[in-house]
Amino acid sequence: MTLKTSIYPVVWQDDHVRLIDQTRLPAEYSVVEIKRCTDMVEAIKIMIVRGAPAIGIAAAYGLYLGARELPETDRVEFLESLDRVSQTLAATRPTAVNLFWSLNRMMKVARATTGSVEQIQARLLDEAHAIATEDLHTCQEIGRHGLSILPQMPQKLRLLTHCNAGALATAGYGTALGVVRSAWAAERLERVYADETRPRLQGAKLTTWECVQEGIPVTLITDNMAAHCMKLGKIDVVVVGADRIAANGDAANKIGTYSVALCAKAHNIPFYVAAPLSTIDFQLADGSGIPIEERDPSEIHTVGAVRLCPQGVEFYNPAFDVTPADLIAGIITEHGVFLPAELQSKLSHFQPA
Ligand code: MRU
Repeated sequence: MTLKTSIYPVVWQDDHVRLIDQTRLPAEYSVVEIKRCTDMVEAIKIMIVRGAPAIGIAAAYGLYLGARELPETDRVEFLESLDRVSQTLAATRPTAVNLFWSLNRMMKVARATTGSVEQIQARLLDEAHAIATEDLHTCQEIGRHGLSILPQMPQKLRLLTHCNAGALATAGYGTALGVVRSAWAAERLERVYADETRPRLQGAKLTTWECVQEGIPVTLITDNMAAHCMKLGKIDVVVVGADRIAANGDAANKIGTYSVALCAKAHNIPFYVAAPLSTIDFQLADGSGIPIEERDPSEIHTVGAVRLCPQGVEFYNPAFDVTPADLIAGIITEHGVFLPAELQSKLSHFQPA
């Protein structure tokens, strides 16, 4: 069974990248054309493209665009300048490790390619395509493995998710929403409960939009309603994505995920994290070393054009939190589903040193 979507957030066309502008959904579906590396840097920073795997894919194409713009014809000088381009892309957002994974992979390919600068450039474009294509397959595998561990119940499942770990956050299928898609196709899913996900509202704006596109029933709740819904027996399972998973299974994801995991534990509801191998950072022993992005206070003090609080208030706006491994029932990857404690022994050998 091949499961497809029609949502591809990062697409190469002719000589440029086309990004679905995720800052405008759901009010407006529009596409931004990215022809220069600096435009890709900006698109990642302001979250036209967002979600860990999608950021990695966008950065790979961004590096190719940067390589195409470099004036150097000498191979050594070209690689030095390319390294600086890579560092600029790497400085866009700190938490999702897929960004660094993808740039490292691209730089390795550049260094390993013998021949002219033109040959390196051509090889970089091929590698960016490969990263995008692999992600589609990876997410479909995540969906397939996720389906196998969903709780067996007489009735169809009600699945809660937080933020958007869908087609929009990947090459086009999704991690947590990959599990949703395969559960829906297998007629195991009654509906999705989507947390709105303050402050950027990825759940309200993006996850509900994706579900509506696919005809999957979805109920939007505000973040502070999750515990209440669980207590009323409306949620059977929680599946979320991740931006970076440490070797011990501690998982960083969108701010508010940790609270959902605590609520799930209190109500005996299994809490799963769905993520590709490229999201696991075996360099970090545990989640305390995961850098947490802090974003502009305007994301929390203003909604639309309306300021929510008086002047004189101080703000703290962390974009991610870390869910401790002991709250996670399993990590759904393209290689299967693992207990957090199994990641190191079962998966670390898949990642190149
Ligand atoms: O700030 P965002 O929108 O990039 O955060 C996205 C998330 O936290 C996702 O859950 C995560 O990247 C997984 S996407 C498959």
